[in-house]
Amino acid sequence: MSDEKQARKGGGLEGMVAGDSAICFIDGQKGILRYRGYDISELSERGSFEEVAWLLWNGELPRAAELASFKKELADAVIVPRPVLEVMRAIPKDIHPMAALRTLVSVAGHTDPDAECDPLDRPANLRKATRLLGQIAALTAAWDRVRNGKEPVTAKPGLSYAGNFLHMISGNEPSEVATRVFDECLILHADHEFNASTFTARVIAATLPDVHSAVVGAIGALKGPLHGGANTGVMHMLLEIDQQGGAPIASKWVREALAAKKKIMGFGHRVYKTDDPRATRLRKLSELVATAKGGDRKWFDLSIEVAKAFQEQKNLPANVDFFSASTYYVLGIVPDMYTPIFAVSRTSGWIAHVLEQFANNRLIRPLSNYVGPEARAFVPLEKR
Ligand code: COA
Repeated sequence: MSDEKQARKGGGLEGMVAGDSAICFIDGQKGILRYRGYDISELSERGSFEEVAWLLWNGELPRAAELASFKKELADAVIVPRPVLEVMRAIPKDIHPMAALRTLVSVAGHTDPDAECDPLDRPANLRKATRLLGQIAALTAAWDRVRNGKEPVTAKPGLSYAGNFLHMISGNEPSEVATRVFDECLILHADHEFNASTFTARVIAATLPDVHSAVVGAIGALKGPLHGGANTGVMHMLLEIDQQGGAPIASKWVREALAAKKKIMGFGHRVYKTDDPRATRLRKLSELVATAKGGDRKWFDLSIEVAKAFQEQKNLPANVDFFSASTYYVLGIVPDMYTPIFAVSRTSGWIAHVLEQFANNRLIRPLSNYVGPEARAFVPLEKR
């Protein structure tokens, strides 16, 4: 391995433990992911997103009465506050939806009744967290409509958090299969220990500002193509391959992209050295929507071809972003909304980490290894 490559491998805090957390466990060698001790596949297949958000914030699965009252509070919070709607109407409509989300969540923070509460006041933070989780779904769905000249759709009583998101973005009540699949997608994206955006949220939280500040920073970190932006990149790739001939040319497309030293979105992971269990489940969900009534197999079949080609040529498995792209596409969602959807779900995890950081806080302030010039004298402007 070249020196440059060796140095790059050592960078990015790879393999370093940056702190304790009781929220999420990953074994990247064995492909295990658990939230609060519960296996992700079991949570995804048997739980609901509301139960998972409660679990992440409180450490235990909710009892029936707790879940009922949390669902009610969360459903009541699925609204776009008026000042947020006004800003939504005022900002340019062609900006990146993650840039819009970053701004809108920040504005939502101004409207919160507990905006400047003591960061160590857990009940106030939980009220704020519930409002934020409700609002982020409403304002993400509303943004997609408003930027396209449509009116926002209000949440429908009786629908789940997942069902309401699909309803608010499309204006139509989703099918049972669509709601179930989307609910699982939200669960699968909810947390992933110290990934870039969550770590960002924790670094911000450790200075003791407020929940919204940490979530706004996390949205910025999630926007990048090496993190949450990858799901949109996957769909653009699938659309491009489809235009150039579809499944029969998938292997050639992958070979040429790798030869051109391109990073292919939806593959590789810093922690998983084997199958990402979220990708395993998402592959099933992608197939489920593809084969359900009104579905379309094309994007699932093309994804399988691309994954096969990538595995053969690079021996790296798909990550969480790969099969979520074809799943959302068949659910009728446009590609650039995939990263904002990731943010909607991950808000539950970010908040869990912010609460955990607040509960046992120490400022996060590492050192850098200085590699710049030695001490030198200032050179006056006329002598430079
Ligand atoms: N496409 C092509 N090559 C890839 C790749 C990808 N998606 N992911 C990793 N590789 C290759 C790298 O080029 C590198 O090869 P080399 O050793 O010959 O130089 C090797 O695999 C290690 O990759 P590296 O980028 O050093 O790993 P990392 O831990 O820094 O990066 C990711 C992890 C996720 C950033 C990286 O896999 C990636 O960019 N994936 C695509 C974006 C993506 O899907 N992100 C979502 C993550 S959930």
